[in-house]
Amino acid sequence: MNILVLGSGGREHSIALAVHKSPQCSKLLCAPGNPGMATIAKCIPISLTDPQAMANLAEQEQIDLTIVGPEIPLVAGVVDEFQKRGLLIFGPTAKAAALEGSKAFSKAIMKRYGVPTAAFESFTDLDAAKAYLKEHPAPIVVKASGLAAGKGAIVCLSDEEAHQAVEDMLGEAAVFGESGKTVVIEEFMEGEEASIFAICHGKDYILLASAQDHKRAFDNDQGPNTGGMGAYAPAPIVTDSLLEKVKKTIIEPTLNGMIQENIPYTGVLYVGIMVTKTGPRVVEYNCRLGDPESQIVLPLYEGDVLELFDAAAKGDFSKIKDQALPSKSAAIVVLASKGYPGEYETHKKVTGIDEAEKNGAQVLHAGTQLDGDTLLTAGGRVFGVVGIGDDLAKALDQAYDAAEKVQFETKFYRRDIGKKGLQKCSN
Ligand code: AMP
Ligand code: GLY
Repeated sequence: MNILVLGSGGREHSIALAVHKSPQCSKLLCAPGNPGMATIAKCIPISLTDPQAMANLAEQEQIDLTIVGPEIPLVAGVVDEFQKRGLLIFGPTAKAAALEGSKAFSKAIMKRYGVPTAAFESFTDLDAAKAYLKEHPAPIVVKASGLAAGKGAIVCLSDEEAHQAVEDMLGEAAVFGESGKTVVIEEFMEGEEASIFAICHGKDYILLASAQDHKRAFDNDQGPNTGGMGAYAPAPIVTDSLLEKVKKTIIEPTLNGMIQENIPYTGVLYVGIMVTKTGPRVVEYNCRLGDPESQIVLPLYEGDVLELFDAAAKGDFSKIKDQALPSKSAAIVVLASKGYPGEYETHKKVTGIDEAEKNGAQVLHAGTQLDGDTLLTAGGRVFGVVGIGDDLAKALDQAYDAAEKVQFETKFYRRDIGKKGLQKCSN
């Protein structure tokens, strides 16, 4: 099969690697790709907000299946354009991708189909939002409804913070632009978070390993929220019985609800859950694999990832086995540029990747570029270093041993990835 992977980050590098391993993959293209992906695939520049250009490329290159990494092309309607032209693609349509693209929409779906989540109200009017806050004191969560690169949710521990957050979004400053013109204000949920990944077609789905992300920039969950500084899988908190509850109370009602709404969901349904005293509740839906979680859940999948995505795109899971409880563990440590998620410098020379991978770890590119033969940093998250082992401790050892060996000026990374998971394993 000729395969096209859309995207250019660490997640897409992991998708490309998994697909490249498949005996069914005869040609692999990545657009736009990155220097890591270029070692296994032909990379072609493209705009991820231009569905026509992506479909033209798939036609020219006689692509049999296109796999979409990030949410931006999905929300822009890449799947709709491919379907219009009869091209096979794995991902949700623009309407279905609103499960991630609009929190007002996703919360309405949860309410209508009885999916457990935080109580909430949506607002477009500043005075109405302020009046609601008067009746609902902190702690409370204020969220921009649209896409905000993972930074649009403000957990407010004081009433002042909450007022400031709605003022910032709905007032003149409009700090999240259009994305913050509708605001969701919701109940603060207490508990531990985990990520669940379902590969879906209509009402059918296959689960990948559960994972736990580390969103804050610094150790002990300090500092600002980032796209994710590290993760591990499977998440020990996601036991068999919790997983059953997630299936019955979250995934199945969501997929059935989307069918009833006439927006059947095909693609990755990534559910961020809060494990509360009363059971799992949805924090958010995403319409794609997590980054950096993809980099650990795909290598744990004990089958052919290309076969899985192909089956999902075609709607036939008859030959695919559920993989929610893998036999190994995986961990990823993100190497970032000092200053991320704020301002940071780029164009720093990178060395030590071959040395790092000697212990079996895999170094995935997230924000790099080539200057001739020299590899340079080019982003906030520069690499993800993945370790795999029989248990979480071994996976973390391999990842951290390799993380030390990759060198670039400005490198920083968290030293406590997996700490909570290890504590749970030893209880
Ligand atoms: P979101 O963009 O909705 O995923 O939110 C980002 C982060 O904010 C989540 O990963 C949680 O850590 C936190 N968060 C969001 N909503 C809530 C909530 N209702 N209660 C507690 N924490 C939340
Ligand atoms: N790692 C969080 C995300 O991909 O949204």
